[in-house]
Amino acid sequence: MTERGLLMWIEECKIVELPKILDPRGNLTFVEGGRHVPFDIRRAYWIYDVPGGEMRGGHAYRRNREIIIAVSGSFDVEVDNGSSVICHHLNRSYYGLYLPSLHWRALVNFSTNSLCLVLASEEYGESDYLRGYDEFTVERGL
Ligand code: TYD
Repeated sequence: MTERGLLMWIEECKIVELPKILDPRGNLTFVEGGRHVPFDIRRAYWIYDVPGGEMRGGHAYRRNREIIIAVSGSFDVEVDNGSSVICHHLNRSYYGLYLPSLHWRALVNFSTNSLCLVLASEEYGESDYLRGYDEFTVERGL
């Protein structure tokens, strides 16, 4: 494995707790690049109107890192590092799931009216995608 590969390997997927300002008028949560997110945010996108039973994702990124937030509703993020799979159930708008690069991920079990917000370290680029599982394991040095 290359040195870069080794660095990626030890980076782990983890839940980040975001600030929560409780208020009888309605609660507020915020996120700041560099403080709650371990990268400069270069892109945000969101997934919504997911029909029952549908899946999003099903790929990995070479470089892109992400924070995934269930702003509304709930869904599961299945994360595979090439050796083991962990399923994270996201159902609170003040938790973000940090996803390092080179992790195969699938988003499943979307609840009705769920909204998935993703903060990304890179701009969109199709060449950053690993869409084949074999390609992913090779890139991970497995
Ligand atoms: P994709 O990342 O494969 O969706 P998901 O992993 O959430 O299922 O993207 C689906 C399509 O949308 C694909 O044609 C690329 C396009 N796309 C953009 O143009 N910009 C973006 O920021 C993203 C995330 C996707």
